[in-house]
Amino acid sequence: MNKSTHTCGELNTRQVSKTVCLNGWVNTIRLHGQVIFVDIRDRYGKTQLVFNAEKSKKAFDTAKKLSIEDVISAIGDVQARGKNAINPDMKTGEIEVIVNSIEILNETAPLPFVITDRESASEDFRLKYRYLELRTDELQRNLMLRHNAYQSARKYLSNNNFMEIETPVLMKSTPEGARDYLVPSRLHNGKFYALPQSPQTYKQLLMISGFDRYFQIVKCFRDEDLRSDRQPEFTQIDIEMSFVDEDDIMKMATGLTRQIFKEVIDIDLPETFPIMKYFNAMEKYGTDKPDLRFEMPLKDFKGYSNVSDFNVFKSSESVKCLIIENVADKYFRKVIDGLTDFAKHHGAKGLAWMKVGEGELTGGIAKFFGDDLQKKIISDLKLKNNDIIFLIGDDREVVWQSLGALRVEIAKRENLIDKNTYKPLWIVDMPMFEWDEEERRFSAVHHPFTSPKLEDLPKLKTDPKSVLSRGYDIVMNGYELGGGSIRIHQQDVQKQVFDLLGILKEEAQQKFGFLLEALKYGAPPHGGIALGLDRLIMVLAGTDNIRDVIAFPKTTSATSLMDESPSEVSKRQLDELGLELKNRK
Ligand code: AMO
Repeated sequence: MNKSTHTCGELNTRQVSKTVCLNGWVNTIRLHGQVIFVDIRDRYGKTQLVFNAEKSKKAFDTAKKLSIEDVISAIGDVQARGKNAINPDMKTGEIEVIVNSIEILNETAPLPFVITDRESASEDFRLKYRYLELRTDELQRNLMLRHNAYQSARKYLSNNNFMEIETPVLMKSTPEGARDYLVPSRLHNGKFYALPQSPQTYKQLLMISGFDRYFQIVKCFRDEDLRSDRQPEFTQIDIEMSFVDEDDIMKMATGLTRQIFKEVIDIDLPETFPIMKYFNAMEKYGTDKPDLRFEMPLKDFKGYSNVSDFNVFKSSESVKCLIIENVADKYFRKVIDGLTDFAKHHGAKGLAWMKVGEGELTGGIAKFFGDDLQKKIISDLKLKNNDIIFLIGDDREVVWQSLGALRVEIAKRENLIDKNTYKPLWIVDMPMFEWDEEERRFSAVHHPFTSPKLEDLPKLKTDPKSVLSRGYDIVMNGYELGGGSIRIHQQDVQKQVFDLLGILKEEAQQKFGFLLEALKYGAPPHGGIALGLDRLIMVLAGTDNIRDVIAFPKTTSATSLMDESPSEVSKRQLDELGLELKNRK
């Protein structure tokens, strides 16, 4: 093999007449009689190689045998392309290389799918051959974005006095709310490590050690139901700071996010991100991660339905509506039925609707609303001819969830989302606890180390449901990019919260005894945040599939189709670990 003199994305008219050597993969082959054009590719780009029978018969004859994705080494002279042959879409489009000699370094076996076209094979099939799929422009670009984001984050945090410190991967279970991945211990049969759901406890301990600004780009593991924005192992930009309040952390994370967007995709995000209270976000958008690239807010309708003849909503805790402008004439029965199924899938019992005609409401449940009431609704809600309104009445949470989901679904259908805009915001004032009906106890909305709002401390005893937390989430384009909180740094408050969460004294001692102990020895006030790096890259790359931004992702059933993990292990390995399988075939 000859050593490359240049990459395949580098040559331009400055190198004309130079003899160069390029190594890479055959990307395309075009035969034109006595001339063969081959695009050679590496991760930097593509360059057009020209094989001319007159120039080198040997090279030309070898080129005739080439297949797409063979690995080759070509030596030739750089030549400027004729005016008409210039390709403005290619970095090297002004030149071509007239090949003197070529070596085939490795012939490829027939390819399992067309590499230039990801759509040519199912995702499962592509995941089996992930190393080939990673050759595609799209995934190469995504991984480059990811690399640039790591560098940008490290630079920003390091410049702001943060220290990068690694924390253990084999550790004790952490309480982020998902199931743990467990690792059996060979030396301590019957005992298990847990893989970190996050380095939460360690980063708090580091604050107690005096490392007042910590960060880590770190793998986290959660055995939970997977979705298009969730993986069983994912990466966080994990941050913790001492002697700070919410404002300091939100400012710092805003700065970090702004720098990453600027450096990676040259987008200027606003200097400050809007702050929205959790309850307002739920009432207005039905979700705590609203997509603000379009408006279409949920509007209260109970005041109108209560005075109408439509009795179905009378006993509902909440009635809200969604107004879709100027579409009524294309929302036929079938469309509405489809949306009704969608709303039901998201928890609603049904979906009511009315269309807006000239000064009146028509169709659906309109007949239950008298003329005057109709006029008032049209005027109050600023309805216009050909609008349609969808209504759901139910418990508050059901209305939020179903109408919030419908809002996004309709925005997608109606093309209301500008893919080139980025709308960050902060969500604050979320509740501390939520009631788990199944387990008949409270669970932490964020995690059990999150501090309640100081003014709500007395309510821990009297009205825990109304206690708000000192948590904050950063949200963009409908994704929760990150979350964090100011922590509890006093042992007695921490104990009180454990009590409320039904974590028994012995259990708290057994699980987090080390942290409770540490809080006794001069724990500074502290707080932090973790940004989900994969989700951040998803937004930067403009994809809605988290697998598109991870080199070797897992399927939604948490398997790796390429190396076929998880897989069985030998009886000897199990014996060493002191384990026996219940259902071994
Ligand atoms: P939290 O659990 O909110 O907080 O996680 C922080 C961010 O991590 C991302 N994330 C995920 N990304 C992909 N797949 C998953 N399964 C997944 N789960 C979470 C999200 C989320 O916003 N220790 C706390 C942080 C803190 O309090 O400082 C924590 O982990 O983008």
